[in-house]
Amino acid sequence: MTTEAARIRRQYDEVIAPHYDRDPQGVAGGAVDLAIEQLVEARGDAVGIGEPIDALDVGVGTGRFFRRLRATTSWRVRPHGLDASAEMIRIAEAEVEDLVASVGDGGALESHFAGRRFELVSTHFVTGYVPLPSVAPQVRGKLLPGGLWSFVGGTRRGFPGLRALAESRFFRLAFPTRGRRIDDHVINPDDTGEVTRVLEAAGFEVVAAETLRPPVAFRDFDRFLEFAYEGGWLTPLIEAVGLHRAGRLTRAVLNRNVFPRTDHHEIAVVLARRNG
Ligand SMILES: C[S@@+](CC[C@H](N)C(=O)[O-])C[C@H]1O[C@@H](n2cnc3c(N)ncnc32)[C@H](O)[C@@H]1O
Repeated sequence: MTTEAARIRRQYDEVIAPHYDRDPQGVAGGAVDLAIEQLVEARGDAVGIGEPIDALDVGVGTGRFFRRLRATTSWRVRPHGLDASAEMIRIAEAEVEDLVASVGDGGALESHFAGRRFELVSTHFVTGYVPLPSVAPQVRGKLLPGGLWSFVGGTRRGFPGLRALAESRFFRLAFPTRGRRIDDHVINPDDTGEVTRVLEAAGFEVVAAETLRPPVAFRDFDRFLEFAYEGGWLTPLIEAVGLHRAGRLTRAVLNRNVFPRTDHHEIAVVLARRNG
């Protein structure tokens, strides 16, 4: 495991897991709900009624997708989940009945659930950590012919206001980043177009592709940390510059000069079908 992967696993285990389900601005939940709407549009509301379908969620986290799928549709699935964080998996196992879970690297998907193929594979907010071009052929390999891939992921067009702030002279003077930028910490695709191109090149037919731009609002620095640090959206960057340890003076300066502020994320929500 690389140092970066070990760092991300630790951040989910120790910082993010206890807070993840609060989803304070509803950004993750809204996108996963749209992914479920795309699935229902493609396959109807009642799937797996006679025999539940096998589904694999890569980067399953706390099991949000399976919980919401079961709560809002009549789909019956045999849920499988893979995640790098044992703590996220522990919560998912407590929350998702019958979850077959494994702790491991989604970037090495082929080596997990060996010999198993699924009717549905989901990757929701995991391609910030595992590069999409290497995940795509592995997802294909895990799907039965005609199987569905539900993709949800942030793009590099997300948080334009926070990006501009991170690049500003004020911020760089106050918080030296040793030359690293937001995109060095989170490796999202550029936009929804890039997602669909990668999927098509990997042997998928795109069934639905939508772009969400959910607003976010931070009344003050604490609200920002709640979302971006504890919530997981920018945890690697915040740790790298030490923002989470800001003392009273720094907080006061930030609250005076930087907050309140608003911004928006950009999220690609794509449903694709394995060709052949
Ligand atoms: C933003 S959360 C998304 C969780 C869930 N999919 C959801 O939509 O709520 C990202 C998840 O990816 C996991 N993760 C990060 N790097 C990973 C990797 N290399 N392999 C598998 N999971 C990884 C994290 O532990 C975390 O649970």
